[in-house]
Amino acid sequence: MRSKPTFRACWGVVAILFMEFFFGECAAADRVNGQRIAERWCAECHVVASGQQHGSDRVPTFAQIGESKRFDGASLSAFLMDPHHSRMINLSLTRSEISDLVAYIKSQGR
Ligand code: HEC
Repeated sequence: MRSKPTFRACWGVVAILFMEFFFGECAAADRVNGQRIAERWCAECHVVASGQQHGSDRVPTFAQIGESKRFDGASLSAFLMDPHHSRMINLSLTRSEISDLVAYIKSQGR
């Protein structure tokens, strides 16, 4: 009788770890979601997709950023965590939004 609650708690932990693994994997980098975020939050200034006609003048397109040698996945994430550039606003993105955006931007640079 005494071992039962422990046993159950154990399965609880296993279940949580499993879910974390499973959903963590799914959330890892979702390019399609990245595009959705880009169209919503970035398209005002950046040309985020090849079909888009207008962005702001003198703002790099996502295709240009994606193929830029200055940015790899890590530096792009770092920039988006803290865009300390005066002309680029800080959008306070979450880590998962950033990884989705990076996956999307990288996919544009080909
Ligand atoms: C209010 C306008 C505005 C919005 C919205 C905006 N940006 Fe920018 N962004 C800029 C400007 C302006 C620059 C260029 C900064 C410069 O070079 O002086 C820039 C630069 C960048 C750069 C760096 C490019 C480079 O070569 O240095 C990245 C990466 C970037 N933006 C990503 C994003 C993403 C991702 C979003 C949406 C989540 C976003 N931006 C939303 C205005 C904006």
